[in-house]
Amino acid sequence: MTAALKPQITPRPFLKWAGGKGRLIEQYHAYFPPQISRYHEPFLGGGAVFFHLSARCHQAVLADLNAELVNVYCCVRDDVETLIDLLQVHQDRHCHDYYYDMRAQGELRSPTQRAARLVYLNKTCFNGLYRENSKGHFNVPMGRYQKPKVCDAETLRHASAALQQTDLTCAQFPSILERAQSPADFVYFDPPYHPISATSSFTRYNRYGFQAADQQRLHQTFAQLAHRGVQVMLSNSDCPFIQDLYRDFYIHQIQASRAINCKAKRRGKISELVITSYPVLKA
Ligand SMILES: C[S@@+](CC[C@H](N)C(=O)[O-])C[C@H]1O[C@@H](n2cnc3c(N)ncnc32)[C@H](O)[C@@H]1O
Repeated sequence: MTAALKPQITPRPFLKWAGGKGRLIEQYHAYFPPQISRYHEPFLGGGAVFFHLSARCHQAVLADLNAELVNVYCCVRDDVETLIDLLQVHQDRHCHDYYYDMRAQGELRSPTQRAARLVYLNKTCFNGLYRENSKGHFNVPMGRYQKPKVCDAETLRHASAALQQTDLTCAQFPSILERAQSPADFVYFDPPYHPISATSSFTRYNRYGFQAADQQRLHQTFAQLAHRGVQVMLSNSDCPFIQDLYRDFYIHQIQASRAINCKAKRRGKISELVITSYPVLKA
């Protein structure tokens, strides 16, 4: 059973996730529709937008292609106290050898043990990256943190409370077409971004990557939903390919600071796109 929570606290992501939208939420405010009944997020990742909007939605349907990530969310929703206990053990044992032992472990026992391992690796690996090799094994080296906070019980309990009314699935994004049918649905798409240059972007969250053909399929999905009257919003990089794909919709530019680049001098403000199927009054 989840411990008593302070109701005024907004839930927030419990994982670090490449492409996480935590720092953009304030800018995104102007682009969210005023009324949200059913919320859908088919590229869930760290779920920053879901957690931010959770108090405003009556129902939420959350999905990601990463089965291990979806398992973590299910455990946070359904078994958070066991997860917290397991994370406390990981936190107490954390050191270089323990990290690489955990990373190398094969098939793990229970869903909650697998979830605890993913959260542990996420909090202690380099930059919170999730990357798999060609065999589907997590292969990120350990990060250099003095005392990583592996077990953030309060954040996990608030996330668990926010997830209670959610439907969580491991699915490819086109499955959204079976779920979102009417103007009562709001879909937020945050796919891996299209690279702005041959070497610039991180798009390999899994062994399959996300190619230009996937961006085109996503655009078709966006257009089909919009045609049904579903309210759709999408984030992507600001490049001619994406600008051209979505030319029939509302394209807005925002300024984001680049978070994934490890070369400090290449951090800085960069233009990104927010695309909506509906007009936005204040941008
Ligand atoms: C940019 S991240 C989402 C970040 C999230 N909005 C946040 O704030 O943390 C993209 C996510 O899409 C997932 N993904 C990649 N390809 C996918 C696909 N074809 N269908 C569904 N999810 C996919 C990845 O596993 C990753 O978690």
